[in-house]
Amino acid sequence: MRQKIVAGNWKMNLDLNEGITLFNEVAAFIAQDITGSQQAIVCSPYIHLSALTALAKGNTKLSVGAQNAHQAESGAYTGEISAKMLTSVGVTYVILGHSERRQYFGETNELLAKKTDTVLKHGLKPIFCIGETLQERESGVYFDIIKQQLVEAVFHLEASEFSKLVIAYEPVWAIGTGVTASAEQAQEIHAFIRKEIAAKYGQAVADGISILYGGSCNPKNAPELFAKPDIDGGLIGGASLKARDFVDILKVFN
Ligand code: PGA
Repeated sequence: MRQKIVAGNWKMNLDLNEGITLFNEVAAFIAQDITGSQQAIVCSPYIHLSALTALAKGNTKLSVGAQNAHQAESGAYTGEISAKMLTSVGVTYVILGHSERRQYFGETNELLAKKTDTVLKHGLKPIFCIGETLQERESGVYFDIIKQQLVEAVFHLEASEFSKLVIAYEPVWAIGTGVTASAEQAQEIHAFIRKEIAAKYGQAVADGISILYGGSCNPKNAPELFAKPDIDGGLIGGASLKARDFVDILKVFN
């Protein structure tokens, strides 16, 4: 069985105290409500990470992730954070390739291939984001775009490394817009992603990879999305800032 995962992406929200409060609320709701083997991940801003990993210690249902990492090992990159630094504070996951990083910070598939190599080398598990823009969806090229993102950013990996990835399909037009992809639209792309992975790495690898849906996912639409055979969970932005909503999404897998 593939791991069912709900990851929260807090983006650039919450100061340290607010972050600790929210994390404690999430942990308490999980302890109270979650009966299955599904996994929750909270991806916070960098400065929260050491505090949150300390709080998550020993918690088998809740892990901590970062939202980015630099591709270099270390060096003169003022303001940046390395994969080794993330590992050193107990982080286990890192979001890579989020569309906001691609759009506002010019991250390309080529750069993301380097970041993926670096974070894997340091034992972190990438939550690797792919997805098309509205224009790409409307012009019908979205399958090509998604395939290109896979081929250029992660298909250079050996199967044993690729197997450590979590993939997140996030149609850019659904992120933070309140417009969700329908469960059918999402399933169509998830099945396509899994088929491409199977063609590259074989069916066993493809069957073991968790593919999350992201984009205006909330407690109302999560049950229908998560019922689809190739949707293994969600990457949650806005709704992850409310402990009750986030854990209600996780609860769908009970
Ligand atoms: P959203 O964000 O849930 O607020 O649409 C999802 C994401 O950006 O990961």
